[in-house]
Amino acid sequence: MSVGIDEISFYTSNYYLDLRTLAEVQQTDPDKYYEGIGQEKMGMAAPDEDIVTMAANAALPLIERVGSDAVSTLMFATETGIDQSKAAGVYVHRLLGMSNNCRVVEMKQACYSATAAIQMACALVARTPEKKVLVIASDVARYDLDTPGEATQGCGAVAMLISANPRLLEIDPEVGNHTEDVMDFWRPNYRSTALVDGKYSTKIYLRALKKAWENFRDVSSLAFDDFSHFCYHLPFSRMAQKAHQHLAKLNKADMTAEQIEAQIADTLSYNRIIGNSYTASMYIGLTSLLENCKQNIAGTKIGFFSYGSGCVAEFFSGTVVAGYEKYLHCTEHQTMLDNREEVSYEKYLELYRHPDPRDGSDLTIEKVTKGHFRLAGFSQHKREYVAS
Ligand code: CAA
Repeated sequence: MSVGIDEISFYTSNYYLDLRTLAEVQQTDPDKYYEGIGQEKMGMAAPDEDIVTMAANAALPLIERVGSDAVSTLMFATETGIDQSKAAGVYVHRLLGMSNNCRVVEMKQACYSATAAIQMACALVARTPEKKVLVIASDVARYDLDTPGEATQGCGAVAMLISANPRLLEIDPEVGNHTEDVMDFWRPNYRSTALVDGKYSTKIYLRALKKAWENFRDVSSLAFDDFSHFCYHLPFSRMAQKAHQHLAKLNKADMTAEQIEAQIADTLSYNRIIGNSYTASMYIGLTSLLENCKQNIAGTKIGFFSYGSGCVAEFFSGTVVAGYEKYLHCTEHQTMLDNREEVSYEKYLELYRHPDPRDGSDLTIEKVTKGHFRLAGFSQHKREYVAS
């Protein structure tokens, strides 16, 4: 019996800022963003969108197919949680009408936690193969205005159904891990935006890649040449390009620069126009690969490098299942992305500064999102979510 990803669906906000607009205001060359960091647009959540609404919107097609009773556990990975105590997934559980016998938990370790959730989900399914686990990763990436991180904001959610004999990707049990106590990126409880030592974070990312890969090679028989494609954590697209060149060099790969680039290019399409979605980003990258790769990649091995600042990293592998192309949500994803609305710089600032009450005051939020679920307001310290 194999275990892995049976279905995958993602969602992002209705608004985006073109990084050309940001570059113009900052009097920066737009190529610094389009080429230098490899990003074109960044998703901006509408006032009535957050990690819960995006997560519920991402998971809706999956639950509509399998039914609300099919899932035994919902794991919600995020590093931009909305409550110190209650798991965001409990709201999603209600919005999707899931069974009261389904357990729900929230997981955190920066951008890495969705991978921990997937590995734990695989273990649960291996123990009870008739059960399915829903893993959702959802984040809103925010940095201070006028900082180097600003152009790498974004938001998005991805929902994955983990099952026995999956239809998309079989996940191998061997993993390589690297954990190290470093301060490259963090967000203390009293801050709504992340603190980051940008250049240091990219250095640590590459070091963690080397260490996790070495640990993977100790436990797996797979070598660099066995992989057709690689999915990396995507804080910005150029990071994946740097990482893959680094890994190819470490392995003394006899490949041209174009061949190396071809192993990751299709993973980047969605993230280039969504921005960083922290926990969700690598799995939106996987969706991008499966949905945008021109050749059929059934039977090929994919390598995954998951990185969460602070830091925990993991390298693992999977095999694309024959017939996978029949179970993707290409059209829905393309329609969702096409229906997004570009915002001006002024509107971007308004969205950025939209109040997320920290003093407990009540607030009614008007409907803006085109998604099925929205945040209707705050009342008596409670967030109120509704189906629109
Ligand atoms: N045309 C083409 N390229 C240009 C250019 C132009 N006009 N101007 C600059 N560039 C290039 C630069 O040469 C540079 O390329 P290299 O990296 O290959 O040298 C690239 O554009 C970026 O330019 P800078 O280095 O000057 O950019 P910066 O210092 O202003 O910001 C950053 C870069 C530090 C990554 C910043 O975006 C940042 O702090 N981001 C947030 C942190 C982050 O994402 N870290 C990633 C690792 S941590 C992680 O992965 C967890 C997570 O999700 C956050």
